[in-house]
Amino acid sequence: MAENESAIQSSLQEHRIFPPPSAFSAKAHVKSMDEYKRMWRESIDQPEEFFGRMAQDLHWFKKWDKVLDWKSPYAKWFVGGKLNVAYNCLDHQIDQGRGDKTAILWESEALDASGKPEVRKITYRALRDDVCRFANGLKKLGVKKGDRITIYMPMVPEAAVAMLACARIGAAHSVIFGGFSSQAISDRVEDAKSNLIITADGGVRRGGDVPLKENVDNALQTTSLVKKVIVLKRTGKPVKWVEGRDIWWSDVIAGQSADCPAEPMDAEDMLYVLYTSGSTGKPKGILHTTAGYLLSCQMTCKYVFDLRDEDLYWCSADIGWVTGHSYVVYGPLAAGTTTLMYEGAPNFPDFSRFWAIIERHKVNVFYTAPTAIRAFMRAGRELVDKHNLSSLRLLGTVGEPINPEAWMWYHQVIGHGKCPIVDTWWQTETGAIMITPLPGATPTKPGTATLPFFGIDAAVVDRTGKELPANQGGLLVIRKPWPSMLRGIFNDPDRYARQYWTDVPGMYFSGDGARRDEDGYFWIMGRVDDVINVSGHRLGTMEIESALVSHEYVAEAAVVGMPHDLKGQGIAAFVTLEAGRQPSENLKKELIAWVGKQIGSLAKPDQIRFTDSLPKTRSGKIMRRLLKELATSGEVKGDTTTLEDFSVLARLKEQDEK
Ligand code: WTA
Repeated sequence: MAENESAIQSSLQEHRIFPPPSAFSAKAHVKSMDEYKRMWRESIDQPEEFFGRMAQDLHWFKKWDKVLDWKSPYAKWFVGGKLNVAYNCLDHQIDQGRGDKTAILWESEALDASGKPEVRKITYRALRDDVCRFANGLKKLGVKKGDRITIYMPMVPEAAVAMLACARIGAAHSVIFGGFSSQAISDRVEDAKSNLIITADGGVRRGGDVPLKENVDNALQTTSLVKKVIVLKRTGKPVKWVEGRDIWWSDVIAGQSADCPAEPMDAEDMLYVLYTSGSTGKPKGILHTTAGYLLSCQMTCKYVFDLRDEDLYWCSADIGWVTGHSYVVYGPLAAGTTTLMYEGAPNFPDFSRFWAIIERHKVNVFYTAPTAIRAFMRAGRELVDKHNLSSLRLLGTVGEPINPEAWMWYHQVIGHGKCPIVDTWWQTETGAIMITPLPGATPTKPGTATLPFFGIDAAVVDRTGKELPANQGGLLVIRKPWPSMLRGIFNDPDRYARQYWTDVPGMYFSGDGARRDEDGYFWIMGRVDDVINVSGHRLGTMEIESALVSHEYVAEAAVVGMPHDLKGQGIAAFVTLEAGRQPSENLKKELIAWVGKQIGSLAKPDQIRFTDSLPKTRSGKIMRRLLKELATSGEVKGDTTTLEDFSVLARLKEQDEK
């Protein structure tokens, strides 16, 4: 944790208030603040009654014996219950009459000569059949309940099929974002002890190819765990083939039955592991289980996106992130909605692509990231105004704080002033949305995620857990267990308690700073630990530092976040070279490319600064806080009393001014 987090200052002042449009409220699942407050109160005071009632929307092979078993910090939800996530997302929907409804509507990135994309509409029934065939194919390859299956795929419906097939037979998946590099794949494969990877020959991005299979091939040079690689043909480009190890997707499903019984899973059986950056050390495998996770995803889709049967819903996240898990696949399908999946980049062929998609398919609910909104703003509203966006009725954001200008632009230019905006705060660890407006009930203010969702006892506290008065910045914690909370860190059970439950004794600490205003609204002020949020994606400074240090010229590196117009936060790296190595512009470029290769493009530093030493405390800890100030404002005004060698700072500044 940063040394100065208790002194978090907030300078943001925002007074505009947007009440929910009355026509929206009239039809919404929750119609007023009174109704929200009553339900929230019950969810906190009598969680077992409340969530027991909510869970009746799910399909159970066997009902639970007890809703919650809480031995801090370990929660078990729906103890003794048996269910299957894929069954809930498919069969249970078909049983409710949605067999012929489109489950996934997919659009390709490439456009034909007349400017049209390829569009696939897969009904709930067809999706179940696809999932069953693939699940049977996995079983034939020897996949068993409890195995971990790595998925490294482009945004195509088969990615969802792969996830659901794992869920159907009780294997846990570990999805790796297609933008990550070979090194990231082999690290995650090793940590998850996964012996099967599902990938594709390639992916399509901004008109180019992403060499997914090649990245897997390279990753498998450094781990011997993986015995089988299933390859979906997407681009048709030639790939290297390892006989006996590699197998085409089409051969996996060939001759397989469209009937595969869903494994009755224990409510607390593992559904998936998803790697995310922590403040120290390597990425951690966040573990999510079955019943509570599914319930929170389904409930938030219903209440936050206010989904109804006729809606077309689009979350633009990649399945490689938690948002893609909860709000492209599991939540919307468990809520019986049609989920739109777009294969490619927001700026292909130009920045009007998202608006063309919304117009073409008449999207009603749209969920995206502030970083995308800022890029669209910069590209200009002419690109928006040539499209008819009148189908939209609700807008959402996630991933980072949304600055009020971007919020207002989203509201006016995209929503034409008539769509409520749900600014949703949550994390990989929380599994589902935690702090959010309910669109028919909560008056919104630009820049705040507003109030906690049902069952969420969020608070802003000091280090001892004492709640802070209005408008005082502090630590954002959750004081009670919630259904979709992480159950642990894969392969490292002790780290879970240490990482999340010790900074503020007895409470889940999110790593974020926040303040509550006089209406109790939460204003998220960003991370207080060593995690940088680039374009809504978390990167640990440690990971980038180790990537830099693994270059033979680099002796030491310190990485900090700095403000960035588009990405929210950019990455500044302070680098000390090995003796005898000379700084140069070329070396800067080389180091940036090196980090891209080690971790992925997302992690490439925006700035490299060479320095002959880094500011350290007497105990040898790098004082990132000072570097951050320097990267942000070019000056250091903060407390430097613990600095070991004052001249370091002066030299850094001098180098900065050169
Ligand atoms: C940040 C993404 C402000 C926050 C779902 C959190 C936000 C981290 C918001 C989690 C929001 C996410 N307002 N900040 N609406 N949503 N964050 O694990 O710092 O990739 O801790 O999960 O993103 O990022 P993660």
